[in-house]
This record gives sequence, structure tokens and C-alpha cells, in this order.
Amino acid sequence: MLYLLDTANREEIAVLIEQFPIAGVTTNPTILARESEPFEELVRGIRATIGPERMLHVQTSCEDPTRIVEEALALRDLAGPPFFAKVPVTALGIQAIMRLKKQGVGVTATSVFTQQQALIAARAGADFVAPYVNRLDNIASNGVAVVNDIVHLFRLYGLSTRVLAASFKNVEQVHEVSMAGAHCATVAPELLKLLLYHPLTDMSVAEFKKDGPGCPRWSSDVEPEPPA
Ligand code: G3P
Repeated sequence: MLYLLDTANREEIAVLIEQFPIAGVTTNPTILARESEPFEELVRGIRATIGPERMLHVQTSCEDPTRIVEEALALRDLAGPPFFAKVPVTALGIQAIMRLKKQGVGVTATSVFTQQQALIAARAGADFVAPYVNRLDNIASNGVAVVNDIVHLFRLYGLSTRVLAASFKNVEQVHEVSMAGAHCATVAPELLKLLLYHPLTDMSVAEFKKDGPGCPRWSSDVEPEPPA
């Protein structure tokens, strides 16, 4: 499973791509609205921060398919490759996805809450589908079970569309979608850090530090000991 960052905060992105193996960044209008930079500057800035190797997923806001396509093409120019236009899985959105794929635009079908939405988006040609795990859990549904079914359906029908699981609030949700075979998970910075955290790891490191020779022996600013 690949890890993506679900944020538009450039400072956090810059730090976290150095600390974690991050495959890309996802945004949505809510996430972008949290930042103070103007939209275009922000999207260009995120691309400059993550470089040309990582994916950038930016959401369209129009509802009419023709407008969605125009918007996605403009976003693609703005964001640079590798780019994926996020399009919600409404009927008009699916129409736009089919048109976008004819024009060779990368697409992430988003706001996915059911298995059939995901299957229809995949048949429409979407490169990714983004099921919202925590939002399902919040309404007495089971987000991980939906992801599990979508992964199963894509395998069953030999579809190349990948599952980009989204909307997480805890480590267990992320772990469970990884066990279900989700290809990617996009997580907020705070949750990403929690994925790596364990108090026993910190305790072990502290113990090794106390007992071991300490870092300076191997550090580059210390002369190596001459051979005996
Ligand atoms: O990528 C979609 C995601 O941002 C939605 O997450 O936490 O608002 O449910 P959330």
C-alpha cells in the first residue's frame, strides 16, 4: 500500500516527504480552503514542494460534465504531472470521468461510499477510486468492509483501477485497509505520524541509548579510530 498525504499545507508536506515514503498528495476544496495562499499559487507550490515524481490529486468543483472537463484540464496544466483530477461519483461526475479518460486525463473518482459507485467509476475508466472510510464508520456503516469489497470486485473483474482509501481518523482504520489490499491510503499529517509511533519503540531506543556506545562513535565529525 502506498501512503499519500491528505493536506495542502506546504510546510507540513515539505517536512513529511523527507521523513516518510510519500507517493503523493491529495487535496479537496475543504483542505485547500484551510490554507491562506490563493488557490493557483497553492497548487503550483505543492507541485514545487513534492517534485515531479509524486502524484498530485486535485478536486474539481463544477457539476456540469462539460465544465468538469474544462476545470480538470486547467487543473492538470496548473498542477503538472503526475496529476489526477478528483471527480465526485455523481451521475454527472461519471459522465465527466468517461470524457476525461477519452482525453487521457488521470482521474480519481472521489466521495465513494458504496461498492457499486466504485465499480461504475472503474468501468468508466477512473484510475483510482477514493472510498471514505471514517465517514462511513460515522454513520453506523463499515468503511473497511466497503474497501475490502471494492478491492475484491476489482480483482474479480480484472480491473486496473486502484483503491485510494481516504477519510481516516485512527491507525486501526489505516491498518485494516492495508490488510484489505487497498493500493493507497491518504492520511492527514497527524495520523501519518501516529502510524509510526509506539511507546515501546521509544522506550527501546532510550534503553539502547543508555546502554550503547552512543552516536558520536560513528558520526562523520569524529575521527575513526586507527586500526589496532
Ligand atoms: O481525501 C478525502 C478526505 O479528505 C476526507 O476526509 O476526514 O474529511 O472525512 P475527512
